[in-house]
Amino acid sequence: MSGHSSYVPQNGVMRWLDARLPLPRLVYDSFIAYPVPRNLNYAYTFGGILALFLGLQILTGVVLAMHYAASSALAFHSVERIVRDVNWGWLLRYMHANGASFFFIAVYCHIFRGLYYGSYKAPREVLWILGVVIFLLMMATAFMGYVLPWGQMSFWGATVITGFFTAFPLIGDPIQQLLLGGFAVDNATLNRFFSLHYLLPFMIAGVVVLHVWALHVVGQTNPTGVEVKASKDTVPFTPHATVKDGLAMVVFLALFAYFVFYLPNYLGHPDNYIAANSLKTPAHIVPEWYFLPFYAMLRAITFNIGPIDSKLGGVLVMFGSIIVLFFLPWLDTSRVRSTAYRPLYKIFFWIFAADAVVLGWLGSRPAEGIYPTLALIGTIYYFAHFLIVLPVLGLIETPRKLPASITEAVLGRHAGHAMPSAAAASPETKG
Ligand code: HEM
Repeated sequence: MSGHSSYVPQNGVMRWLDARLPLPRLVYDSFIAYPVPRNLNYAYTFGGILALFLGLQILTGVVLAMHYAASSALAFHSVERIVRDVNWGWLLRYMHANGASFFFIAVYCHIFRGLYYGSYKAPREVLWILGVVIFLLMMATAFMGYVLPWGQMSFWGATVITGFFTAFPLIGDPIQQLLLGGFAVDNATLNRFFSLHYLLPFMIAGVVVLHVWALHVVGQTNPTGVEVKASKDTVPFTPHATVKDGLAMVVFLALFAYFVFYLPNYLGHPDNYIAANSLKTPAHIVPEWYFLPFYAMLRAITFNIGPIDSKLGGVLVMFGSIIVLFFLPWLDTSRVRSTAYRPLYKIFFWIFAADAVVLGWLGSRPAEGIYPTLALIGTIYYFAHFLIVLPVLGLIETPRKLPASITEAVLGRHAGHAMPSAAAASPETKG
């Protein structure tokens, strides 16, 4: 971690450990003394919530795996048995299934916070790119997890998604066969998906360590986008950020509990309570809600583009919608980081957010009538936002005047003289 350590071991045991493995020093420097901008708002609490949910998913998942049978003959019934017969099995299962949805709610809030406050801009490019890698790993994990109950949507979702790969010339078919472990979704597919679904969360945890490491090297942004200039711009992580993160976690967990206890199947699909049947295709195959915007973009391409047929076009557009995020730090040409000081961009930011929501809704509609056309417009706008709006607006927009420092933004122009040190920054004065 960056910066000078102020940790002083409090007793002989800690002094002994500190000289051999300075783990308490690492925790102290990263989560107690670590200076955070004094003006962080609740949008900055989703990183902590994500860490909590990653832990919850791993915990509930490991226990579920003790009772789950990864075989096409047994999987569906083993999940039913978990819910009905295993002690607290219903709670484990509903926490894990709804936990995936809430993990995605948190990650979308986290990403949109990053987009709004320009968190991806220099020097935080690597931090952002690691985030996009985590997002991709999360999608792969969620997709494979959804196959495990071996219901109708599990089976047909897996058939559709693995079918995308055949769109690629030459390498497409071998990749699909590798994924399936054969020529169709079957027992071999279920086994390898279970294995990978168990593995990937630990890989996510590894990338999260790098993500937080990178964060501690460059420091957090803040709603003004102005970098920390003096110690009075910051407050110690504990108690300021721990209390704020703690409160946000309690509120988020309360909402989560509401779904787990009162609406446990609301976010799922009823067809997944029908055992997988390779001879019966459901009327509409729809993915989980968090994939819907990407699904809409996939289906928006209903025509060939030169030598690229519509199927490959859709797959390229869908993957491209994530790949473009990797280049975001270089696509945004604005000198000003935070949208709060970019009046014109603020409008485009909200249009983009609305576009993402509309694409999600279109993903849930059948691909007929007006819907594919609307999805095409939404998809074009999605890419235009990154490839046209962001580069051009940064060059032509006149941003609002930035405050000279974080402290000035919080306390007003002359308050800097009255508040000489971080120690004096009590919560009451934070505004
Ligand atoms: C398991 C998933 C993730 C975890 C546990 C996680 C954790 C964190 C934590 C603890 C922070 C600091 C607190 C905060 O700003 O909220 C943070 C910041 C950040 N994260 Fe993540 N993150 C995850 C996924 C992502 C994703 C998917 C992206 C982007 C695609 C991302 C991009 C960022 C950026 C850019 C920052 C710096 C924010 C700033 O200082 O302005 N993270 N993350």
